[in-house]
Amino acid sequence: MSAAESPLQDTAREAEMRPRRFAGGSPLRGTIKVPGDKSISHRAVMFGALAVGETRISGLLEGEDVMATATAMRSMGATIERTGDGEWRVHGVGVGGLLQPEEALDMGNSGTSTRLLMGLLASHGITATFTGDASLSKRPMGRVITPLSQMGADITASPGKNGSQTLPLMIRGAQPAVPITYRLPVASAQVKSAVLLAGLNTPGVTTVIEPVPTRDHSERMLQGFGAELTVEERDGERIIRIRGEAELKPQVIEVPGDPSSAAFFIVAALLVPGSEIVIENVGLNPTRAGLVGVLRQMGGRIEELNPRLVGGEPVADLKVSHSQLKGIAVDPAVAPSMIDEFPVLFVAAALAEGRTVTSGLDELRVKESDRLKVMAEALMAAGARVEEREDGLVIEGTGGAPLPGTSGTPVATHLDHRIAMSMAVAGLASRDGVEVDDTRPIATSFPTFEPMLDGLSR
Ligand code: S3P
Repeated sequence: MSAAESPLQDTAREAEMRPRRFAGGSPLRGTIKVPGDKSISHRAVMFGALAVGETRISGLLEGEDVMATATAMRSMGATIERTGDGEWRVHGVGVGGLLQPEEALDMGNSGTSTRLLMGLLASHGITATFTGDASLSKRPMGRVITPLSQMGADITASPGKNGSQTLPLMIRGAQPAVPITYRLPVASAQVKSAVLLAGLNTPGVTTVIEPVPTRDHSERMLQGFGAELTVEERDGERIIRIRGEAELKPQVIEVPGDPSSAAFFIVAALLVPGSEIVIENVGLNPTRAGLVGVLRQMGGRIEELNPRLVGGEPVADLKVSHSQLKGIAVDPAVAPSMIDEFPVLFVAAALAEGRTVTSGLDELRVKESDRLKVMAEALMAAGARVEEREDGLVIEGTGGAPLPGTSGTPVATHLDHRIAMSMAVAGLASRDGVEVDDTRPIATSFPTFEPMLDGLSR
């Protein structure tokens, strides 16, 4: 048992839980700007910490996950300072220049910090221990351990359920590491990025073959930082090559708003009658924008205003108006481009007219929680009709009538920020409200979620 799972800590955690009932009533109206993209923020801090000189970042997401990355990079020698609201300055150590951290790297709830930093460390001659909270300590790390071991890293993980490898783990990096060609067995940007980051300090060319495209922020940003990285499309696959012993040049980065955070407001405005909102500065990179397309297919009125580029990423302001949604069969091929948005899509489906069928979503079982099981349970507790299948949910919508809401036991969020925010949206679209057992996990990705929501539905 890891320290994070000890009964003592569980009791302490329960004592501090912050429950809240989210209730409907008023329409959502107004204009908001969601915080910076989480994936881009992690990478901005990491790559800035590897560049020689000063990287300036604006719009950085100041959530717990990104702060875990910043703390880890500081403990390996980078200077990272906050200079204003979302404004940060990073002085990097140079690729190959990371220092031995003196203490274990505490990754909190963040899978992205863990897997990307494991990649980075795999080709540096240092040793580090990774720890995390009870949710992160259950998540599979074998998917990065396999390629990073092939590159020469020595990794000892804790045994998890069903033979999985989990935190706490210790990694001893190889210097020099060995370049590999790795075909991704799972559609995962974290695994792809871990191998590419290991490739940064590995002599020669490291290659990742991606049969199914996943978010491409690492590729775009590494090119922006001056790494020799190429992407070739061949027979429907993406072949990404990075030349190692790279020299990264410091950058000025503006982080666009997070489409995964915008998602909660998009769905809330679609579901609550009388709503009309504008969400400014939403990142619409095609590898991330699947939800908008699926909701439009369901009949959602989402307009893109003022399309532009921010930090090299496509961005627009979204105008969202209440709409009667129709159930659909969601094409599993779009899953990677909206992988974090399924919990809130399930809420939309619960109020649509007719049946929504989702499939090909096995990956949702290994996120911050088992998102298929947890959302099925939470939505049923709120009165929705849901069938849980091995690889997806089938939901019979109400046709627009509010969900009854929860009574008695609050819905369990299992340390998963996206469950808490999705069920808050379900609460707005319910008759009696939905009580969520713990709102604290929201701070991992969206610390201003509750005040923003309260401001719109006042
Ligand atoms: C992320 C990749 C996705 C996503 C996660 C962030 C990233 O995970 O779910 O929230 O920043 O690379 P997988 O790589 O496991 O698909």
